[in-house]
Amino acid sequence: MANVAVIGAQWGDEGKGKVVDWLASRADIVVRFQGGHNAGHTLVVGNQTYKLSLLPSGVVRGKLGIIGNGVVLDPQALLDEIARLGAQGVAVTPRNLRIAENVPLILPLHPALDRAREAARGAAKIGTTGRGIGPAYEDKVARRAIRLCDLAEPETLSAKLDELLRHHNTLLQGLGAEPFSKETLLAELLDLAPRLLAYAEPVWQRLDRARREGARILFEGAQAVMLDIDHGTYPFVTSSSTVAGNAAAGSGIAPSAIGRVLGIAKAYTTRVGAGPFPTELHDETGRLIGERGREFGTVTGRPRRCGWFDAALVRQAVKVGGIEALVLTKLDVLDGLPELKIGVGYEIAGRRFDHLPAAPGAQAAAQPIYETIEGWQGSTRGARSWADLPAAAIKYIRRIEELVEAPVMVLSTSPERDDTIVMRDPFAD
Ligand code: GDP
Ligand code: IMO
Ligand code: MG
Repeated sequence: MANVAVIGAQWGDEGKGKVVDWLASRADIVVRFQGGHNAGHTLVVGNQTYKLSLLPSGVVRGKLGIIGNGVVLDPQALLDEIARLGAQGVAVTPRNLRIAENVPLILPLHPALDRAREAARGAAKIGTTGRGIGPAYEDKVARRAIRLCDLAEPETLSAKLDELLRHHNTLLQGLGAEPFSKETLLAELLDLAPRLLAYAEPVWQRLDRARREGARILFEGAQAVMLDIDHGTYPFVTSSSTVAGNAAAGSGIAPSAIGRVLGIAKAYTTRVGAGPFPTELHDETGRLIGERGREFGTVTGRPRRCGWFDAALVRQAVKVGGIEALVLTKLDVLDGLPELKIGVGYEIAGRRFDHLPAAPGAQAAAQPIYETIEGWQGSTRGARSWADLPAAAIKYIRRIEELVEAPVMVLSTSPERDDTIVMRDPFAD
């Protein structure tokens, strides 16, 4: 029985939450392995809408959720999210959520630094979610992060805070922001400690056991390949490795356990925040797609930039992300458009490219080369079988498969959990 990893194949918000929730019915454990509460995953089940940022989307199905060491964890954001879900009738307790004891924490100084830096960048800002993700990963790599396990050792914590604040207060003051008091931070963390430590464990042991017992593990990616720290549109990226390879390092499991890698892609493209976006539409069609697709950021409420499906970009994500098959979402948003365009490559300074090169100047200058394809008149919204799709919609999907060099294994036709067409069971070997 294969495990499955789900990652975003564009710039995020492809519908990973919906797909993970849907797949979770056949999984035993759902693992988050990177990112933090910069992620916003929306699940629609009947008349309930759940918005998750840190909790693995499987918790709504009552599956065991694991937050791996590759995540950066904001303790207050986690407790708030658990409370929000509790109010919606989903109880999250140490019985159904386990957190890696070695996960690095996001402290209040991280969002403060994130925002102060963005303000200092002015027009060149990245458009981060302002949640301290970048600064928290920097601290991890710099070996000064406070980790969940440190909350169990007040003396270690106190000494580590001294080192952390020496660094951060110097930076914050240089940027004209308020410094943080060690006593306040220490008291806040020690106050939260018992509630958080109840979830902590060496999750690698549980995953190892689960694997040997033949449990099905679903790895839930956040963000997407084009926001990946190495492979994305750097520097307009997030600060973690979003490719499936990181599911192993980010949770403490063998690379061979990752199983099948599914890339989630919208039938068009969106992006929140700044950075290159060759197929972006600044016209009425772009506005219409945004309105129909309800393209507003789950985390920040910002309108998402919208554009045509960029097959060259997704093909690149397929290759660097090790994506074996696609889940195509939001096809319904394109219903009724007379004609559609698909980006098949780029023209940059008079040269043709079949991929987006890494240099920022080239990325900013990239002009899409389009192929035009006929739209469809009928509705795909809520379709649950291939036979319900208009012929032109099938043609659009087939062309995408050819261009991105990966098959479409699952199709999503509305936000609702069960409005999903399966071409092949992703868990099948
Ligand atoms: P994620 O970050 O990848 O989990 O995606 P988000 O949840 O941030 O954004 C995807 C949005 O599209 C959510 O509001 C979903 O409810 C919605 N959605 C997912 N699949 C479909 C679909 O097939 N059709 C439509 N119309 N909406 C969808
Ligand atoms: P999900 O998991 C879309 C974007 C931000 C910004 C850049 C860096 O819901 O797909 P960060 O706060 O991570 O330092 O911001 O990355 N970004 C996302 N865009 N979906 C997300 O998550 C995102 N998480 C971060 O908008 O451009
Ligand atoms: Mg999202």
